[in-house]
Amino acid sequence: MFGRSLNERRRLARRAGRAHRSAVMIGAAAICWAATCPAQTPSPNPAVKLAQNWDLVEPISPVPADISLDPARVSLGERLFRDSRLSVDDTRSCATCHPVEKGAMDGRARGIAVDGRPRLRNTPTLFNVGLNTSFNWDGATSTLEAHAERLLLNPDVMGSTWPALLAKLRADPGYRSAFSSAYPEGITQANLLNALATFERSLVTPNARFDRFLRGETKALSAEERQGYELFKSYGCIACHQGVNIGGNLFQKFGIFQDPDAQRGSKTDVDVGRYAVTKVERDRGVFRVPSLRNVALSAPYFHDGRMPTLEGAVETMARVQLGRALTGQEIGAIVRFLHTLTGEYRNQHSTIAAPGTP
Ligand code: HEC
Ligand code: HEC
Repeated sequence: MFGRSLNERRRLARRAGRAHRSAVMIGAAAICWAATCPAQTPSPNPAVKLAQNWDLVEPISPVPADISLDPARVSLGERLFRDSRLSVDDTRSCATCHPVEKGAMDGRARGIAVDGRPRLRNTPTLFNVGLNTSFNWDGATSTLEAHAERLLLNPDVMGSTWPALLAKLRADPGYRSAFSSAYPEGITQANLLNALATFERSLVTPNARFDRFLRGETKALSAEERQGYELFKSYGCIACHQGVNIGGNLFQKFGIFQDPDAQRGSKTDVDVGRYAVTKVERDRGVFRVPSLRNVALSAPYFHDGRMPTLEGAVETMARVQLGRALTGQEIGAIVRFLHTLTGEYRNQHSTIAAPGTP
């Protein structure tokens, strides 16, 4: 336990209940009930704006199928994303850990740092990442451009420096012409970051069966899947996992009713979460609520990849976030519902990364 009094835990539970009711009542509008909620700033991403306009009675809105992005910037961004020259020693690209053909994540419990050790957090999928309002498990940055710079310069991830990186790109005639077709100023720091971010914003996966259901195709879900969605709402999962990305827009404590680390022997490796960013005591153990889109593809689960199965993740969530023990049938129905959140990337269903493969 975190030393919370019973009263405080009851208050949190009431708050979750209230948020759930308002989620159901006010539909897709942003629900902000945590002290740590991000500010509601207009998003530069057209997909987010489209989603915000979706007039629904449901607390989740479909991923927009059509987002307008400059095709020259998307294709330049994709080329950069797959280019290992972005790392200091030309050994890894963004696609090494986020292979788009395999769910845009690596399937490992933790990402492998430059020294070859699994020291990073669990690698999130980049599908629909542009619909999140902050990035990383602790919400370290609030734009994809700022996030990309942080990664390029992070000695544990890409380890580059700006002068070396720009020199490599400027030496390549292919990049010189691709940059000048996409941007009037050609190769600059800001344009490199914008190209990467534009490609990331293009990684949307529309047409999940659940989205077709939301758009009125009632037969897109089976009775059990619909029951799973009803439980997801009535038990209060929706209080935290809502909006177009079914998460990605709130910060919450991992372990409101129970300490999720209680059964682990040593506590020295417990992640402080958002505290690392804000240094505010109440953010200790707080994480960004992850998106549940394509969650069936993104095992293992949680910020340190501790949970190999979706069933286990759902059971843990109900217990530590909502103080509830679910029956096997309820877990099964919620898992069936979560499987309907798998969308299509470039009109194809995404495939699953084999655990541990790059
Ligand atoms: C060594 C593997 C690795 C490489 C290489 C890598 N990433 Fe990641 N990526 C991760 C891990 C691990 C996280 C989670 C970090 C955290 O939360 O502390 C992450 C998080 C992200 C996120 C945040 C996703 C979210 O939902 O919050 C984005 C965006 C991202 N990476 C993009 C990139 C881009 C762009 C590149 C190339 C410049 C890149 N990554 C290279 C492992 C990697
Ligand atoms: C009080 C907020 C809250 C509630 C309620 C909640 N979650 Fe979560 N959920 C989180 C947070 C925070 C995380 C990230 C935990 C971590 O790894 O640090 C998470 C993680 C998850 C994950 C793992 C995702 C991944 O990519 O690793 C799944 C699956 C999930 N939740 C499903 C559910 C279900 C199903 C329910 C209802 C039974 C639920 N959640 C209720 C906040 C919540």
